[in-house]
Amino acid sequence: MRTPLIAGNWKMNGSTELVEAFGRAFADAALPAALKVAIFPPFPYLDAARRAFDGTPIRLGAQTLNPLHSGARTGEVSGSMLREFGVEYALVGHSERRQLYREGDREVCDRLLAALSAGMTPVLCVGETLEERDAGRTLDVVLRQVGFIMARLEPEQRTRVVIAYEPVWAIGTGRTATPEQAQEVMAAIRAYQAGYDRELAEGLCLLYGGSMNANNAAELLAQPDIDGGLVGGASLKVDDFLAICQSAG
Ligand code: 13P
Repeated sequence: MRTPLIAGNWKMNGSTELVEAFGRAFADAALPAALKVAIFPPFPYLDAARRAFDGTPIRLGAQTLNPLHSGARTGEVSGSMLREFGVEYALVGHSERRQLYREGDREVCDRLLAALSAGMTPVLCVGETLEERDAGRTLDVVLRQVGFIMARLEPEQRTRVVIAYEPVWAIGTGRTATPEQAQEVMAAIRAYQAGYDRELAEGLCLLYGGSMNANNAAELLAQPDIDGGLVGGASLKVDDFLAICQSAG
């Protein structure tokens, strides 16, 4: 039995005020008993978030991390630094970083390995562009992204990775994948992992991301291979994010 995970990726948004509002709202919120919740705020808010989320079910995530432990890398942040602030999850391979910052599979892999070695749970994001979907290449693209990473991990490391399927055309567009479209790709990811190990595939936590909101979450989360959500825009509104969490029971 997999525990659902609802993760909020704030991207380059948020404020101290928003951090505090989440802390207050989740302190006494009625949530499903078996549910993991994580918020990925921008780096400057991590410390305030750690304090505000203390005593709530919200765990902390980082939006990226550098592959190195320390050194001359101006502007970067390492996994060991994030761990000092209680960060438990790290996003790697988000399409915004693949596209805007030219992060390729090799770099995504290095960042994912850094998250694992810092003791964090990496959330590996994969997904196809609209052009790739229209060309009928969705499964090729997504399974290549997953496969590149999995081939470089030890069996034990594979069990510690969460995978988020985020079709690029659904991110920030208000155009959500249908539950059937998402389910098809996510079932394929699980089947791919079963090629390594059936138990690994059964335990794999798979998130859907891309315009998930309070209205469409329940239907998406009802799909057999969707174990949770990676929420962007709707994670910036306390009530909407809370409603998504409540629909994950
Ligand atoms: P939206 O929910 O705003 O489409 O963003 C999804 C996303 O990119 C989460 O990582």
